[in-house]
Amino acid sequence: MTTRSDPQIVAWEASVADPEQFWGVAAQAIDWVKPFTRVLDRDAQPVPRWFPDAQVNTCHNAVDRHVAAGRGEQAALIYDSPLAGKRQRISYAELQQRVARLAGAMAELGVGKGDRVIVYMPMIPEAVIAMLAVARLGAVHSVVFGGFAANELAVRIDDAKPKLILAASCGIEPGRLVPYKPLLDEAIEISVHRPEHCLIWQREQLKVNLDPERDRDWRECEEAAEPHPCVPVAATDPLYILYTSGTTGQPKGVVRDNGGHLVALAWSIRHVYGVQPGEVYWAASDVGWVVGHSYIVYGPLVSGCTTVLYEGKPVGTPDPGAFWRVIQDYGVSVFFTAPTAFRAIKREDSGGSYRQGYDLSSLRALFLAGERLDPDTLQWARDQLGIPVIDHWWQTETGWPICASCLGLGERTIKPGSPSLPVPGWDVQVLDDEGQALPRGQIGALVCKLPLPPGSLIGLWGAEQRFVSSYLSHFPGYYESADAGFIDDDGYIFVMSRTDDVINVAGHRLSTGAMEEVLAGHADVAECAVIGVRDPLKGQLPLGLVVLKAGVQRSDAEVVAELVARVRQQVGPVAAFKRAVVVKRLPKTRSGKILRGTMRAIADDQPYKMPATIDDPAILAEIAAALARY
Ligand code: COA
Ligand code: AMP
Repeated sequence: MTTRSDPQIVAWEASVADPEQFWGVAAQAIDWVKPFTRVLDRDAQPVPRWFPDAQVNTCHNAVDRHVAAGRGEQAALIYDSPLAGKRQRISYAELQQRVARLAGAMAELGVGKGDRVIVYMPMIPEAVIAMLAVARLGAVHSVVFGGFAANELAVRIDDAKPKLILAASCGIEPGRLVPYKPLLDEAIEISVHRPEHCLIWQREQLKVNLDPERDRDWRECEEAAEPHPCVPVAATDPLYILYTSGTTGQPKGVVRDNGGHLVALAWSIRHVYGVQPGEVYWAASDVGWVVGHSYIVYGPLVSGCTTVLYEGKPVGTPDPGAFWRVIQDYGVSVFFTAPTAFRAIKREDSGGSYRQGYDLSSLRALFLAGERLDPDTLQWARDQLGIPVIDHWWQTETGWPICASCLGLGERTIKPGSPSLPVPGWDVQVLDDEGQALPRGQIGALVCKLPLPPGSLIGLWGAEQRFVSSYLSHFPGYYESADAGFIDDDGYIFVMSRTDDVINVAGHRLSTGAMEEVLAGHADVAECAVIGVRDPLKGQLPLGLVVLKAGVQRSDAEVVAELVARVRQQVGPVAAFKRAVVVKRLPKTRSGKILRGTMRAIADDQPYKMPATIDDPAILAEIAAALARY
């Protein structure tokens, strides 16, 4: 199936045999303020670090150098919003002016190198401008997804301790505005740390009152400010913190550095996605997720491409032809989204009638990631488009793909259910619980041998111990991905499931632990568990199982309604927590661990083994009956 002369395998072997040589060459694609003399510091703790003595600026590489090289008139950003009824084209020259002025405005508010800035924004050009302006100052951004509630924003404010927050007056979801200002005010009210200022972008759909002490009008400040130059930083300095779900309610602040990130993203745009400077690249995701960071903002811009910022949904804005329209209107070369978006289109237009009439001749490939790509959706997408449909596997932590069929390194057989081969730089192995390598075909923990390639996480913000214990200590010398899977005889990798309590809802990574904490805080709940159950559209949906305190008189339905409202209020609508079942007791091991995996199997109608350590086997029948009634 694979041949040793496959350019991806040749490049992979070179990258693993001599990472310094491989990434040293790749780094020539980047403008360095001070070039590196060493490619990799293997002695750095707790993980090796890339380009340890170089200096660089990410914004310069994403914007200014393209203007200097004659791309000033090329579109850097195309904003298309069926929700706002608006389209906008921003050239590299315009982007440079806006970013430099916003950086000037932030500098006047006291933001400098190393300061943290939270960006709480919908999918509008100002979100991208904000990220780049923070990078221009050598400060550290942390983008918070708009679908999270005030409480989640507050947790991130307390962890990142931002000097400044940039926010818009509102987001737009189908049929409703999402006023951001009350969420922002509430978050700042409940957080212990207080930002000095907030810059508010007033959208025409909703103008909000500003706090005269704390808030400033973004547009006015930007227009009045002097352009700020790019500030050189160490390649190893942090560029951003992106919070992602872990096992507990406290999210993990994944930290990415400047130099390695630039090198990895520039390499991946060319070699993984096969896209050249000047082409149009579209990732239909959100800047609040890692896909948005890497492939709406930094990857395409660092590579001199045009990126599309789409504020809409795959269906309902206005119809299931929305994606085809955008591809046609802007001549998109390569498109990236989550399988759930294609399932949504397929559900409304399985015959593909909306596909007809659009000219998609510019499109060379579709890349899908964020969750497992089911073979039906793969086949449907292939039938609709007649181009390579490429599943690829990666995580917030890795920042760019671990496994893919690298289009820039040629085409190869795609096996349904597999994101194909390891990408150069990633030495993927399958280990058993004791850290022994498993034979081909056997499922175990998917791990990556250190050093990880450039662009992967360098730590968790303010939590080195958690970084080590979450990713590095279980299998010394390896990064633990928390995904389980196997490698087949052709070297293809199959990613089967998470090994922790993280679930994946519509391509969004969510913590069941965070939802359990919210349920457990309800006055009537004695104990609870949240599991991810299969859903044909969103992949998984959260389901709560709750035991009420003795003596609670209210009806189950009443309590469940309150629990649903509570999760929406405290985690956010994106959790899509809509179902909970009241049960008499939860199945546990003799040591008191709740048997979530067994309950998940029951809910999904999957076969399961009676756990040897179960406290009372009769409970499983009770759970099955409660779920069946539901
Ligand atoms: N701000 C505020 N609320 C938001 C939001 C945002 N940025 N994004 C989503 N929400 C809300 C939605 O309005 C919805 O609220 P509701 O319960 O009142 O309907 C809820 O969060 C769940 O949203 P979503 O997951 O988008 O579900 P949906 O039912 O509205 O749409 C899909 C389903 C499949 C069309 C949609 O999930 C989708 O397009 N997914 C693509 C996934 C993706 O891009 N993933 C990124 C990784 S590549
Ligand atoms: P996130 O950090 O939000 O990008 O989510 C990462 C997780 O999504 C991974 O750990 C996997 O569990 C899942 N995931 C992402 N891409 C794939 C894929 N192509 N196949 C299977 N699972 C995937």
